[in-house]
This record gives sequence, structure tokens and C-alpha cells, in this order.
Amino acid sequence: MALVSATEMLQKAEAGHYAVGQFNINNLEWTKAILETAQECNSPVILGVSEGAGKYMGGYDVVVGMVNGLIKDQNITVPVALHLDHGSYEHCYKCIEAGFPSIMFDGSHYSIEENVEKTTEIVKAAHAKGVSVEAEVGSIGGEEDGVVGMGECADPKECKRIADLGVDFLAAGIGNIHGKYPANWAGLQFDVLAAVQGETGTLPLVLHGGTGIPDDMIKKAISLGVAKINVNTECQLVFAEATRKYIEDGKDLEGKGFDPRKLLAPGYQAIKAKVKEKMELFGSVGKA
Ligand code: 13P
Repeated sequence: MALVSATEMLQKAEAGHYAVGQFNINNLEWTKAILETAQECNSPVILGVSEGAGKYMGGYDVVVGMVNGLIKDQNITVPVALHLDHGSYEHCYKCIEAGFPSIMFDGSHYSIEENVEKTTEIVKAAHAKGVSVEAEVGSIGGEEDGVVGMGECADPKECKRIADLGVDFLAAGIGNIHGKYPANWAGLQFDVLAAVQGETGTLPLVLHGGTGIPDDMIKKAISLGVAKINVNTECQLVFAEATRKYIEDGKDLEGKGFDPRKLLAPGYQAIKAKVKEKMELFGSVGKA
């Protein structure tokens, strides 16, 4: 199946009370591992690409070519969306041009007026090409200069203003943070999430910072309208751990253990296991 926008898969997820995982990609191994797992789990999937990861992989055309090539050559038949993660205004246009079927415009750091203005323009340009749009209200916290901040909580009325612009799904800050959560994290703010859902109705909501959120909180968030959950750091951690074990066990020094196809295999399998675990938790298995 060719790449699809994320609109339909997320509307189905919202109505069916499950969530589709967005797993961020970094290279060929990451992308192949995630696509293979989605196919095995018969699950829809969203491949997230941050601006930094897009640059690392060589550019958005490389990413689109790689993903389309894998879908074709690996006979991937489940719905796959390729999605710009936390895009700036300029990069949203670059990705639409390159053939991404889905983008996120992160205008959360602008004033609400400017966020409304820019989101309106981007929705118009994206929808003209059938590209789905995620917007953000209330910035997602995370580590900055070594300081881990509490995630900001979105104003439900501002969420309603952005939702009314015709965005396809909305990320609202509810105390979530990118990366590892600090020991004193207060948890997701479900009263805020419920208030946001009260304003935005059936619009699929997005939970960023999926790494390390306890399973019961994930399930409760899904019951309150979260239909897309982003996971990045957790895949990086298991990849690094498996790769480190391979080297610490001296496997790269045995025979042709230095061959990258062998060296990267444990990390590849670790990503697959992590993605499967998340798809089962999110309830997307069998929903392709
Ligand atoms: P984590 O790295 O915390 O899983 O967050 C991923 C994310 O939200 C990408 O937008």
C-alpha cells in the first residue's frame, strides 16, 4: 500500500478507542524494523521524522524515497503515514513538496494569534495536496540545557480555536515531556485532557513524550480521546543497550562480527520488540 495521510487511520482509532503509534525514524534499520513490525502486527503505523533526523538521513527526498522503496520491496500492505514531527513553518512546506503525506506544524512557541495565523495557512496548503496536519497548543516540556521542566498544560479554549481551523489532529500539552521523565514527575494531567476533549469533541488528540509513561496512564489517555502516541527515546534506549551488549560481549571481535549487518542486528531486534510491545499496549494490533 502506498503512503497514506494519517487522517483516516486516526479517525478510526479515535472511534475505536485505540491509538496508532508514531515511531520516530533515524536510518534504514529503524525504518525497516518499524515497518516489518507493523506488518507482522497488522497495525497501522506513523513514521515520525524530526527536522534533525531528516537532515541526518540526507534530506526529505531521501526519506521519502527510502520509505516508499521499503513499502514496495518489503510488500508492506498496512497503512503507513510519513509525518514531519514538530515542523517549523518553512519545513512544513519543504515536506509537502517532498511528498510527505502528513505534517506537524508546531506553532506552540508563538502567541496564540500567530499560531492561529500560521496554522491556517499551512492547513490550506497541506489540504490542497491531501496532506494531513497536526497542530500543537501548549508546548511539550523536556530537557533543555540540563534542566528538566514540567510540561506545559494547554488552554482548552485555545485548543478549540486551533481545532476549528480544520487541523486533522491536535497535540495538547497535558504535563507530558519528551525524553525520560524525572522521578518527581507529577504525571499526566487528566483534568486538562478531559477539558480539551470537551472542547474539541471527536478530533483525534496526540500524546507526545510517550517514553516512560506508565501503561495505566496510556490507557486512560486513550479513553479520553488520545488516538496517536509518539515514541522516540524508548526505541533509542533499547537500540543502544542491545548494541552495547553485543560489543561488551566481544561479539564484534568474533569471526565477521564487525560486519554492520551483524553489529546492528541486536539493536534492530530490540526496536522490533519495543514497537510490538507499544502496538499491543496502544490497541492497534489487527487494526490495519
Ligand atoms: P519521547 O522521545 O519522549 O518518546 O517523545 C517522542 C515524541 O513526542 C516525538 O514528538
